[in-house]
Amino acid sequence: MTNESLLLGIDISTTGAKALLINSQGEVIASATTPLTLDRPRPLWSEQHPADWWEGVVSSIRQALAEAGAAGEAVTAVGLTGQMHGLVLLNESGEVLRPAILWNDQRTAVQCDTIRERLGKERLIRITGNDALTGFTAPKILWVQENEPEIYAQTRHILLPKDYIRYKLTGDYAMDRAGGAGTLLFDLAQRTWSPEMLDALEIPAEWLPETFEGTAVTGTITPKAAETTGLAAGTPVVGGGGDQAAQAVGVGAVQPGIVALTLGTSGVVFAATEEPLYESDGRFHAFCHAVPNRWHFMGVMLSAAGSLQWYRDTLAPDTSFTDLTAEAETIPPGSEGLLFLPYLSGERTPHPDPLARAAWVGLTLRHTRAHMTRAVLEGVAFGLKDSFTLLQNAGLETIHQVRISGGGAKSPLWRQILADVLGVELVNVSTTEGAAYGAALLAGVGTAVWPDVDAACAATIRFTQVTGVGDTAVYDQLYSIYQQLYPALQDSFHRLRS
Ligand code: XUL
Repeated sequence: MTNESLLLGIDISTTGAKALLINSQGEVIASATTPLTLDRPRPLWSEQHPADWWEGVVSSIRQALAEAGAAGEAVTAVGLTGQMHGLVLLNESGEVLRPAILWNDQRTAVQCDTIRERLGKERLIRITGNDALTGFTAPKILWVQENEPEIYAQTRHILLPKDYIRYKLTGDYAMDRAGGAGTLLFDLAQRTWSPEMLDALEIPAEWLPETFEGTAVTGTITPKAAETTGLAAGTPVVGGGGDQAAQAVGVGAVQPGIVALTLGTSGVVFAATEEPLYESDGRFHAFCHAVPNRWHFMGVMLSAAGSLQWYRDTLAPDTSFTDLTAEAETIPPGSEGLLFLPYLSGERTPHPDPLARAAWVGLTLRHTRAHMTRAVLEGVAFGLKDSFTLLQNAGLETIHQVRISGGGAKSPLWRQILADVLGVELVNVSTTEGAAYGAALLAGVGTAVWPDVDAACAATIRFTQVTGVGDTAVYDQLYSIYQQLYPALQDSFHRLRS
């Protein structure tokens, strides 16, 4: 039985409910994840049942406590993170009214047009920092308003996935500001709900919870939740943050100049800023950071390591990732003129187009499987360079360091390709537990284990590997061709849909 004080980070991701326990040196003591499944009841729809999240969270907390040999009393604070943008609707008594509509649900194209029409795209971006994308929460609310009026009529509370778990743990309706900004109902600069957005979309302000900075205590564990989870009643729960903001805290991307590059199923380029930035076309996401009074700019590519996963599962199911990338290493940079467009699930940044498709362009008889693999790795790197270029054009010329994480970051070849394509040095860090780790750090800051988030990151995160920039010339040439391909193929992609 451990007597150490522990911090608990909870991450409700799309694929699992995770509970991570760390000590006040930032060492991981235990981690448990309960898998979650996704419902796709109709084409373009993506839903989950909030009750499944809660069941998963309870089971993971109990497993993590058991693994640590710790009593609930050892946990001194809880931090929450999770999938962003998902819509949870509750009635007057706090009961769930329908399955949650998730971040990767694409049913709301019409409602996104409505939002742009009501506000005007320029004004929309000026208030919220963002264009209306199908993934965000506001268009989902309009969809329920229009398509399920009987559900809408009973609605009294709107929450995000992580904040539903907060409600179950503390009994409070509350939300973190990184999550709030991802709803498209926030005034980005003011870090609070925008009356203009709520009026334009006819959403009652009283349905939305109070919002808090990532390190602020939003409530404490109720006696009922204590009984269910094994945590102690009265344990403080902090605001936490959306998964991308918490992931950035977990790798220390909390100050301007440090960029987090996450090579997971999706690919994310995340830059912390001291003030809110606006990209005139809204091609970038601009949200509040989980760090108090900081913001961030973010590009999201939908199929990053997901492209390699699809490629392996479909075309080389009997070959390991290590063998595939070893083959690709024998091919020169540029894959002898073969390019891959990584839009397997449509795209968000820089082409917000659910109908975009993937393609190899430039195949000849000379090309082998090894070329195709290398082209996939390079195509993903070019897609991420699109986000880097947007960052630099939006005024963030000074990128001092890029911290890379996610499954793809384990491949030395992929890291080298990325360093060469982006023309920046990449650093791997010691913390590999992702968003849950960031949430645990925020919990520690909220309860004075560390004085602030900068100090928490400095005390816990170490560099493990550095990938320097090699030869960039071939990639510079190829990137200019890559940039021409989506515009050239866009019309064909759209016609292929029908
Ligand atoms: C961020 C986003 C995803 C989800 C799911 O904008 O949509 O990161 O939060 O992970």
